[in-house]
Amino acid sequence: MKLPPSVTLVEVGPRDGLQNEKQAVPASVKIELVHRLQAAGLKNIEVTSFVSPKWVPQMADNAEVLAGIQRIPGVRYSVLTPNMQGFEAALLSQPDEIVVFGAASEAFSQKNINCSISESMERFRPVVAAALAQGVAVRGAISCALGCPYEGEIAPERVALVARLMREMGVQHVGVADTIGVGTPRKVQAALDAALRHYPLDAVSGHFHDTYGQALANTLAALELGISSFDTSVAGLGGCPYAKGATGNVATEDVVFMLQGMGVDTGIDLEGLVDASAFISQHLQRAPNSRAATALLSRRHAN
Ligand code: HMG
Ligand code: MG
Repeated sequence: MKLPPSVTLVEVGPRDGLQNEKQAVPASVKIELVHRLQAAGLKNIEVTSFVSPKWVPQMADNAEVLAGIQRIPGVRYSVLTPNMQGFEAALLSQPDEIVVFGAASEAFSQKNINCSISESMERFRPVVAAALAQGVAVRGAISCALGCPYEGEIAPERVALVARLMREMGVQHVGVADTIGVGTPRKVQAALDAALRHYPLDAVSGHFHDTYGQALANTLAALELGISSFDTSVAGLGGCPYAKGATGNVATEDVVFMLQGMGVDTGIDLEGLVDASAFISQHLQRAPNSRAATALLSRRHAN
């Protein structure tokens, strides 16, 4: 198996992770988490989202969090923007990149962003055009690419369709998201292949939730195709309030450990990453949902 020599990890813990916490996490903790992640070498950090605070109150402090981060040159700070209202609000905080998030499932699109897939595309179009005109990079996410809590299995053709629509409107990079973690390696490859019909290899990433314990295997299956960018979440945080039963994303620590072991460069310092993981886990008063972090922390305590 030929592996990419280096891999880009997009850390989504502050957004995908903390959007899903029952308890309110103070902005100061979110800011400290981002500081620790960038200190560990993460170069892409999804910080927050500009969505309705009635829908996702956990992200209502979006502008405050972005204002509090001491930005490091070379780090790309991204935010989710579902519509022009979100984009205009986000722009005041000067993100480097925005993410429009659509779905391969009609039912999930309705539940998550309150519109059909085709309506969502009409909402994204002006957002994408405005972002590109302002020099802001644009990523797209395709949720429920492997399965939907409401519709069940999703055919790769549905992923290809959304990828094509996103490509046509100028979205520069697309993430194939297994929102509820039901994908298995070969199915993940088929979904990625569907996105690859419309995007080059370096413009497609994997976003794998680990609900059924498949996320690391799915990451390896994606690497096998030559995919070299993944969304991962510190301490395995994550979930979507509109995807019942979905648990966290694949843990950044586990992916970094695996890649290091295979000689693939990530530019991330695993010990620093474990510090970030311990920090947020302590705040949330639970152990990290990462096998590598658990092992490394217990080794620290034993020494
Ligand atoms: P809507 O109700 O259809 O929007 O919601 P609307 O345009 O009809 O406006 C209704 C109200 O929302 C108005 O306020 C607007 O001002 C307000 P009111 O007059 O009632 O007081 N509003 C907004 N407020 C703040 N920011 C905005 C905004 N837009 C409208 N941008 C909307 C549509 C998309 C806003 C709503 O459905 C929403 O916020 N959904 C939340 C979706 C979300 O954040 N989901 C989790 C993230 S996606 C995810 O986790 C998946 C991912 O990780 C990949 C994967 O794993 O699959 C990315
Ligand atoms: Mg997600």
